Amino acid sequence: MKDNKSSYNSSIYDENITNVLPYYTEYHAQVIDVAKMISSDKEGSIKWLDTGCGTGTLALRALGEIPDIAFTLCDPSEGMLEVAKEKLGGKNISFNNVTSDALTYENEFDIVTAIQSHHYYDIETRDIAVKKCYRALKNDGIFVTFENIRMSTEESDAIALNRWGQFLSNHGWTPEEVKAHQARRGVEMFPITIEQHLEMLKNAGFKSVDILWVSYMQAGFWAIK
Ligand SMILES: C[S@@+](CC[C@H](N)C(=O)[O-])C[C@H]1O[C@@H](n2cnc3c(N)ncnc32)[C@H](O)[C@@H]1O
Repeated sequence: MKDNKSSYNSSIYDENITNVLPYYTEYHAQVIDVAKMISSDKEGSIKWLDTGCGTGTLALRALGEIPDIAFTLCDPSEGMLEVAKEKLGGKNISFNNVTSDALTYENEFDIVTAIQSHHYYDIETRDIAVKKCYRALKNDGIFVTFENIRMSTEESDAIALNRWGQFLSNHGWTPEEVKAHQARRGVEMFPITIEQHLEMLKNAGFKSVDILWVSYMQAGFWAIK
């Protein structure tokens, strides 16, 4: 029984995730680039909430590149948070065992991030989660999210899924394991199209909503409150 909703138990997540998520390290690079811009515009530390933080990989890397960040890391999996605490030991970080739709922060953060953590939601709860991220931001604060996406038609979605299958095979998965990974789509995770993402962010109240990065299965968005 896994201790979180991703493909892996927290204890083996870090060693496996780059074999299942194409461009995984690039999502974090893109987010940190945006955070650097926010940090350079600001005196003192930036307040950063990472929801669905997993094992804290993004926070660890960001702290190595940006000197002054006050991090709040949230995740509903105690196992993930335990690994994050071990990796980030000694640093002044707040941890919170909570889902994004249950966040209660208001006007607190310069940046809120949700990286590959909202695709487990049905559409209605996902909408609530994005609104909670909006509420947690200060005015002019920036929300950055990366998610699995659905293509615009069944035909193109099937081609993208096959392409991901090739990626998985190239990373050592057997044909049965590839099928099992692909079968999670629409059952354990519910990707939405780029248009649905943009609409959801606009509905949450963000004054600017833009695409940050896009590939055949994942996309990043940034939105200003
Ligand atoms: C694929 S991992 C991504 C972790 C991390 N953001 C990263 O970049 O490595 C998905 C994470 O989302 C978390 N998660 C699952 N459901 C969630 C929810 N409703 N709200 C916030 N996080 C959630 C999981 O516990 C897991 O840590």
